[in-house]
Amino acid sequence: MAETARRTALRALIASLLGGVAVWRYLTPRSRGGAQTLAAVPLADVPVGGALVLPQHRCAVLRTRDGVSAIDLTCTHLGCQVVGTRAGFSCPCHGSRFDSRGRVLSGPAPSSLKPLPAVVEGDTVRVLRG
Ligand code: FES
Repeated sequence: MAETARRTALRALIASLLGGVAVWRYLTPRSRGGAQTLAAVPLADVPVGGALVLPQHRCAVLRTRDGVSAIDLTCTHLGCQVVGTRAGFSCPCHGSRFDSRGRVLSGPAPSSLKPLPAVVEGDTVRVLRG
């Protein structure tokens, strides 16, 4: 009798675990296997030695003679969106300043703007979600 009760409890436990896994798989989004594109812009629109600021995508594409990179425009202090200036970037909330590559020049921001992955595909620069 005790053996039957144990088997019944074990079956119930296994069924609960399998049901939990099925529900979890159903409710979690599937990865599409690749990074998501945050923004895509023509390479020709990014000046060499400068940046293309994309406030609508909260990022900027930077270009040097060596290549292309991107940064997140979210201030590392409290998350306001920084704006482009002649010298780099500044935060309108508490005055942090960043150079043209997003490196912090003055606080209160504790660190540089976050780099984002950027890839050049033909004539297009794709900025990927970090
Ligand atoms: S949020 Fe940018 S300086 Fe405070």
